[in-house]
Amino acid sequence: MIILGIETSCDETSAAVIKASRGSVKILANIVSSQIEIHKKYGGVVPEIAARHHVGNILPVISECLESAKVNQEDIDLIAVTSGPGLITSLIVGVETAKSLSYAWNKPIISVNHMYAHLAGNFLAPLEFPAIALIVSGGHTELIHLKSYNDYKKIGQTLDDAAGEAFDKVAKMLDLGYPGGPAVFAVAEKFNLPSIPSLEQEWGGLVFPRPMINSGDFNFSFSGLKTSVLYKVQKMTKAEIKQRTSEICFEFQEAVIDILTTKTIKAAVKHQAKTILMAGGVAANKNLRESLQQKSEANGFKFLVPDFSLCTDNAGMIAVAGYYLSQKDKPAPNNWKNIKADSNWELSSHNA
Ligand code: KG4
Ligand code: ZN
Repeated sequence: MIILGIETSCDETSAAVIKASRGSVKILANIVSSQIEIHKKYGGVVPEIAARHHVGNILPVISECLESAKVNQEDIDLIAVTSGPGLITSLIVGVETAKSLSYAWNKPIISVNHMYAHLAGNFLAPLEFPAIALIVSGGHTELIHLKSYNDYKKIGQTLDDAAGEAFDKVAKMLDLGYPGGPAVFAVAEKFNLPSIPSLEQEWGGLVFPRPMINSGDFNFSFSGLKTSVLYKVQKMTKAEIKQRTSEICFEFQEAVIDILTTKTIKAAVKHQAKTILMAGGVAANKNLRESLQQKSEANGFKFLVPDFSLCTDNAGMIAVAGYYLSQKDKPAPNNWKNIKADSNWELSSHNA
């Protein structure tokens, strides 16, 4: 089965082609046109600008993708498109393009939830269930309990900021640019703990709080952590901030990693999981990957995280998700009339 995936939920215009059959999924092409450079100067994604660029990019990206995968429209069996959650103006471009192609090519469409698709970045190889999945992106921080590819339930989520949002806001406080996650990580890498013990002493230790780490449920909160960083930064002189930026980034990142890994392991133990998965843009963080892998394996769980290229938004994961969803709910021919964008589409549960 050949699937064309389309993703335009935020600021990446992406198209992918995959070849899928029982137990095997292969990505033939995955083209991502990022608008990061355009939105950088505004310190975040501007929805109207993102939508306008999607309109200009979407058809060239799809053409490039088909060419690179060496397939043509007749070869395609299904079109998978992100229908939500995301920026409504951005989503509409992908959804309306998918519907137009579906009508013109006479192919069925499947609506894909963007958060489920992040998980599906882990579905390229067979998985052992039950699994606990940690989704960490710019807009979401969620724990999902999966009984199979198609049977899942959300068991926890952030009550305020998402983990990626906290990275982005801390980066903004420290003038590190956008997107904040990679910037904070790069600066944190420069921190050399033993080299400034006297500063640690003088400050009484730069350790940030871990809100809700022992809350007994699987929800998260990152707003207090972000505010704690802000208060510390506000008490410092410009020179101190400059001197301690890498330390702040490192300790903030450590706090986020501690919260995420502790809660994920607790969820996996409670639900007797065999596998722990991680997905979403923040899953590109090397220290988080290493820490969750180490803790998962130490507790007897298999650990999976997609390749870096499949962590941030891309249509490859949309097409893979489309394959697994279509195995359960076969899309009817000419179903394009029923497909629409839903910017608030919650990933709650789906029973196979
Ligand atoms: O999944 P994604 O590409 O888009 C959303 O659906 O939100 O995630 C983007 C988020 C941003 O907040 C970005 O700062 C964060 O992922 N991110 C990272 C890293 N790379 C991207 N956060 C921490 N460390 C990274 N290396
Ligand atoms: Zn995403």
